[in-house]
Formats: sequence, structure tokens, C-alpha cells
Amino acid sequence: MTRIEAKKRIAKLKEAINHHRYLYHVLDRQEISDAALDSLKHELSQLERQYPEFLTKDSPTQRVGGEPLEGFKKVQHGVPMLSIEDIFSKQELADWENYLKRLAPGASLEYFCEPKIDGFAITLVYQDSILKTGATRGSGTVGEDVTQNLKTIESIPLRLRPDLLGRSGLPNILEVRGEVYMEKKDFEKFSSEYANPRNLAAGSIRQLDSRVANQRPLKFLAYSLITDLGQKKHSEEHQILKELGFKTYPGKECQNLSDILDFWREMVRKRDSLPFQVDGIVAVVNNNVLFQKLGVVGKSPRGVRALKFSPKQASTQIKDIKLQVGRTGAITPVAVLEPVTVGGVTISRATLHNEDEIKRLGVKIGDTVIVERAGDVIPAVAGVMKDLRTGKERGFTFPKICPVCGSDLKKPADEVVWRCFNPNCQAQKREFLYHFVSKKGFDIKGLGPKIIDKLCDAGLISTPADLFSLEIGDIISLVRGKGGALRGFGQKSAANLTSAIKNSKKVLLNRFLYALSIRHVGEETAMVLAQRFNTIKKFKEAAGQKLESLSDMGVEVSKSIYGWFSHKKNVKIIDDLLKEGIRILPPENAPGNQGKLSGKTFVITGSLNSITRVEAHKKIRLSGGHPLTSVSKKTDFLVVGANPSSKLEKARKLGVKTIGEKEFFNLIK
Ligand code: IVH
Repeated sequence: MTRIEAKKRIAKLKEAINHHRYLYHVLDRQEISDAALDSLKHELSQLERQYPEFLTKDSPTQRVGGEPLEGFKKVQHGVPMLSIEDIFSKQELADWENYLKRLAPGASLEYFCEPKIDGFAITLVYQDSILKTGATRGSGTVGEDVTQNLKTIESIPLRLRPDLLGRSGLPNILEVRGEVYMEKKDFEKFSSEYANPRNLAAGSIRQLDSRVANQRPLKFLAYSLITDLGQKKHSEEHQILKELGFKTYPGKECQNLSDILDFWREMVRKRDSLPFQVDGIVAVVNNNVLFQKLGVVGKSPRGVRALKFSPKQASTQIKDIKLQVGRTGAITPVAVLEPVTVGGVTISRATLHNEDEIKRLGVKIGDTVIVERAGDVIPAVAGVMKDLRTGKERGFTFPKICPVCGSDLKKPADEVVWRCFNPNCQAQKREFLYHFVSKKGFDIKGLGPKIIDKLCDAGLISTPADLFSLEIGDIISLVRGKGGALRGFGQKSAANLTSAIKNSKKVLLNRFLYALSIRHVGEETAMVLAQRFNTIKKFKEAAGQKLESLSDMGVEVSKSIYGWFSHKKNVKIIDDLLKEGIRILPPENAPGNQGKLSGKTFVITGSLNSITRVEAHKKIRLSGGHPLTSVSKKTDFLVVGANPSSKLEKARKLGVKTIGEKEFFNLIK
């Protein structure tokens, strides 16, 4: 993205975020999910970080809560109530630590982690141990006085417990912060009125009539002690808060990032069984002096981050729309995405189902879309953010020919799905892909027919090149999703598979040629071709030009290769693979680096005593020769074993030199 593009994108994002805030807060209408809105805000704050010159005071990223409501007394916060910057990945966590290390070189970093409760933040001020004021965050500096409503909450002490700390008495004024929330089980009763427990908690506290709050079973968890009681660490605050009579959630001291991630995973596991809603963890620099020294940027302290659980929706951009061909010829349009994390995994595709769905969504290439991973189904495009268009988006006309075989697509009158009816279409003949990934081809470990079938059926792949842009999330959803689960295939196996695919991107030319499934080009012929041409470029030139350039390969082979290359769609298979970054290396035995048998051709007939034919072929190749399977004038040696076939007679007729097993071994030694 260029600077100018970033500037435009920032402006568009701000506009869209403000629009949705307005819909939500003023018109009580929610058109996109909290997660999708968060995802847009996240993109905005990342762009603002990258281009700080475009950060303005009115940016939605600079906002803390809303303005205080009319009707409540205003409360000026002694210490501002700030927000916490969200992060969503291990990488962003590592970036944060590096940032801290740059800001505080040499400091020993210890963290404290606690769950991030999805409720409503409030601050409580006690005077001489008696609750004096309870307030909302409001603008961050001025909040609303909601003391009456907070007094209805049993877990908020009206009087602090006598000083059990062994300290010299409490100061006159003592301030505590935490979260008002409603337990999930209680929320059920109100779920028709409020979207989530957080909205309900906020709605109940910001009622002028405290009888409303009184009727609702709200709770309070404390997480922060504002007043200095000599605490050196955030973890000590939890201890003190408990002694003062507040409920806290036991957090964990973490020595490093892997401890933080452990805690995060623990909370992910416990998430469903916790009584309240949690949307991530808060990780804070435990040393309070260091925390203060690190300071604040915008409205968020540098020393704290919210490591969020991955939401089920996210926003991203559509790079392309491709058609995939299923086993029955059904055509599925698939959005190729700027990779994005949804539900904890990265995805690069989302289904658009069919032509009608594309029309209904009005989606164009280049659009910002909301993608959704609901449960274990394949990610889908759930909505289009048309407000974010720049004018450069391209509409998508549904092609009427098969992207793989080029034959005409048809849509039966009573169906919504276009289909390719060519029974010879490669995409329908999965054998092509099975062969492509097989041991002698690209040798992609863990990718067998079963998974290929699933990937094809889900519309995620139909050509070899499609394999190389798959992300972990694309694979997980499909193996767990539609059409039944592949047992035991979890995130780990998906990760193994994507890395096996990535590892196979460097491939020897002979294997590459073999993988293409050109008729008569088996393992041996592929090796001969690879040794002769050495690079794919030279091979393509020879194969594409004229038949004669391949004539020494034998008539059948050269005809077949020439025929294969005369189809544009076949050349495209190679070109698409190269576009995906496949690196083709010279064959194991490129000309110029082998011994005395360089370029000599061998054919074996009958069975050899001491080794198998495959082993013999290997030895021939190792010494620089080419093993072939049929005898021609150009054959240099026919190796004759027990019970030779008609090859022997042919060789004699053509005057090809014949040798026995012993002679053969002497030669290749
Ligand atoms: S703050 C020094 N801890 O998240 C920081 N905030 O997006 C100490 N929240 O306004 C910890 N759970 O409403 C902290 N355990 C927790 C929290 C928490 C929820 C909320 C809070 C805050 C918002 C920031």
C-alpha cells in the first residue's frame, strides 16, 4: 500500500467505524458484529501506527467510551480511565515485548495476566472506608456518577474491611477499579433485549432509575487499585483488593511470553465453563514503577495489552474471485482473501456459494468484506463493506466456461449451480491431483486422495497451483466441516500439511515433469527430459516449438509432449505454479556433473540376478546415463538378463550393443 492509498484507506475506515457507532449507539441498530467492527478498528490503528502523520484527535481509535450521559452528575476522574490496546496474535505479542525492550533497555520484564471480563468498567471512590462515589468511564476523564445504581450490587462493599494489612491505616481516599458484569446464566433471561451481557451490564448501570439495576443480578470483579498503598507490583494489588473485601479473579505472574501464552490457552480452555463472559486476557507489566515509566500513548498505557480471543468474524480484502470445480462438475465461486485470522486460524479463502450469492452480496474484487467462520463450517463471506470502496474495485462476471478444461458451463433450469459436464475435465478426474502430490511427484507428505477429495469438494482447490496458497484455517474448516470430519485431523495436522506443502515448493525438474501427468512421461522419461533440458524454461521452449526438437525422445513420447503443450490450459498449469513461487531445481544428475556414462542410454530386458530393475535404473542415473524402457536406434546398450523379451531381437536388428549383467556392472562401477 502506498502512502496515498493508506491515507485514503484511513479516511474510509474512520468514516465506516463512525457510521456503525452511530447506528449502534444512536439508532439502536447493529448492522455488523462487534467482532467485525473491532477488526476494522484494528486495521485502522495498525495503519495509524505505520503512518502516524495521519493520526488525528478525532480518530475512533482515540476514543475511550462515550460522552457522559445527560441526567447524571459528572465526575472528574483523578486518574484517567484509559483503554487497553487489543492484540490478536503471538506475533503481535512478541512485537509488544520487543517494543518494551526498546523503551526500557535492560529492564527485567515480568508480567501479570488475568482474564479480560467482558463487562462494563467502573471506578469506586471510598472516603474513610465508606463508598462515596461510583462512576462510569465516560470520556475517560469525565464519567457519570452512577453511585446509586452501583450500591445495588452486593459484591461491591459499601464499607471497606477493617485494615488487615498491618499497614498504618488506610488513606482517607481510596480508589478501586473493576468490571460490572452479569453472569451468563442470568443473562439468558434478558437475551431478547440485549445482544450480550456487556450491553446489559452497561444498560443497567446507566439507568437513571436505580430500581432497574436493583432488579438485575449484577456482579463486580476488581482488577486495579489506584491508590498507592505501597504496592510494588500489579499482582500485589490483587492481594490487597481481596483483603479490602473485593472479589478478584486469581491471575498469574508470568516470567516470559510463553508463560503468557500458557495462561491464554488455559483461559481459552476454561472460557466456556467460567460463569462470566471473557473475551481475552489482559497482560500487564507487573512492576508498577516500570509501568508508570512506560507511560501512555494516545489513550492506552504502553505497559498493558489485551490479548483477545479470536473472534468468529473479521474484515479483510478480496484479492480475487476464482471458480473451483467439484467432483460432480459443480462450480463454486471462491473469494481469495488477504490472509486474516478468524476463530484462531489464518484463512485465505471464503466461499461465495454460487452466482446468486455473488449478486445478492453485490461483491466486487478489491472489496473489504466480513468473513465468518461459524462453528466448523467453511469460512464464508458474510457481508460487503461498500462504504470502504475506492472506485478501483472490479465487478465479477460469472464466466461461462470451465476454468480447468475450458468447456461450456451449463446451469440446469431448476438449479442455482453452474456445472462443467465434460467427463474428461481434469478437475473432475481427481487422479491428476493424486498423481501430482504423490511420492514420485511433489511428494507432499500427508496429502493423500482422501484430503484432496475434501479440498476439491469444498471448492478450495481444483488445480495444482491452488494447493500452494492454502492456509491452516482453510484446511481445518474443511476437514472438520461439511461432509463429515476426518478423524484426528486437528490444527496440528493442518499445520503439518501446510508446512509439507510449503516445503515441496522447491522441486527437482524431473519430479516436476513427472507430476504433470503427461502421457508416456513416467519417472524415467521425466528424468531423461530433465537431464537433457536442465531447466523448465528450456523444456517449455523445446516442447512448445516443434515436434522435431523432441524427436530423439522416441515418437510416442515426443508426440505426447507436443500435444500436451498445444493446449493453453496445460501451459497455464505450469505458469500458475511458477506464479505461486514454485522453484524448480536442476535434476539430481544434471549434465556436466557426471561420469563416464554421460548421456548414454540403457534399456534392460529380462530379470537381473543381483538387483531389481528400479535399483538398476538408479545406478544408471547415478553414473550419468539414462535408463529407458524401449529400444531404438539411439539406444547405446541393451542389458540382457534372464528370460529376455522381444527387445533383444529388436536390438539385434537395429545393431544396438547388447551386454550381460556382469559387463553392465563393470561399466557402471
Ligand atoms: S486493566 C493496569 N483488567 O477492558 C491495567 N481491564 O479495553 C490493569 N477489562 O476499560 C488491568 N477486564 O473495562 C483490566 N482484568 C482486567 C479487565 C479489564 C476487563 C476492561 C476494562 C477496560 C477495558 C479495556
